[in-house]
Amino acid sequence: MRLAAWLGAALIVVAAALASAAPVVAAMTDAQLVATRVAAMKQDGMLLRGAKSLTGQEAIDAATIILKNFTNFPALFRKGSITADSRALPVIWENWGDFTARLAAEKANAQAMLAAAKAGNKKAYLAAIEDLKRPCSNCHLAYARVF
Ligand code: HEC
Repeated sequence: MRLAAWLGAALIVVAAALASAAPVVAAMTDAQLVATRVAAMKQDGMLLRGAKSLTGQEAIDAATIILKNFTNFPALFRKGSITADSRALPVIWENWGDFTARLAAEKANAQAMLAAAKAGNKKAYLAAIEDLKRPCSNCHLAYARVF
């Protein structure tokens, strides 16, 4: 219950941040893009760690945020947007098709998570969480300074 309450509060914070950030992505500086995408990546990791125990509206909220993040990532990785704080590698924009295909696959996994959450299908919900977690490290190995 405490975990669920904490996740719920975190969801509200991220929803507010994304709601205010999303319309102005085109006007963001590279530093703002890096900060926003790193925050969204961290949020995905945190939500996925806690998501298995969520049910009902909280599960729907978690899946909705993860889906929104993976929808926003292509724009947040604007060409050349690397700063000293960023772990992103320039090879992202050399292999943009592969990079965005990986993001699209994760978006599809998030859609499956959301559908399962809405349907109250626990088995499909848990499977979607595993599907979402699996590709993270491979993408980091290819496109981020490994952390
Ligand atoms: C399509 C490639 C890709 C996928 C898929 C991906 N990431 Fe990332 N991730 C990146 C890149 C690139 C960065 C570096 C961003 C930057 O620093 O500018 C990053 C950064 C991060 C960071 C920030 C690390 C730090 O402290 O700076 C976390 C946490 C993270 N990702 C978690 C995840 C999780 C969890 C998943 C799976 C649900 C995931 N990522 C899926 C490419 C990806």
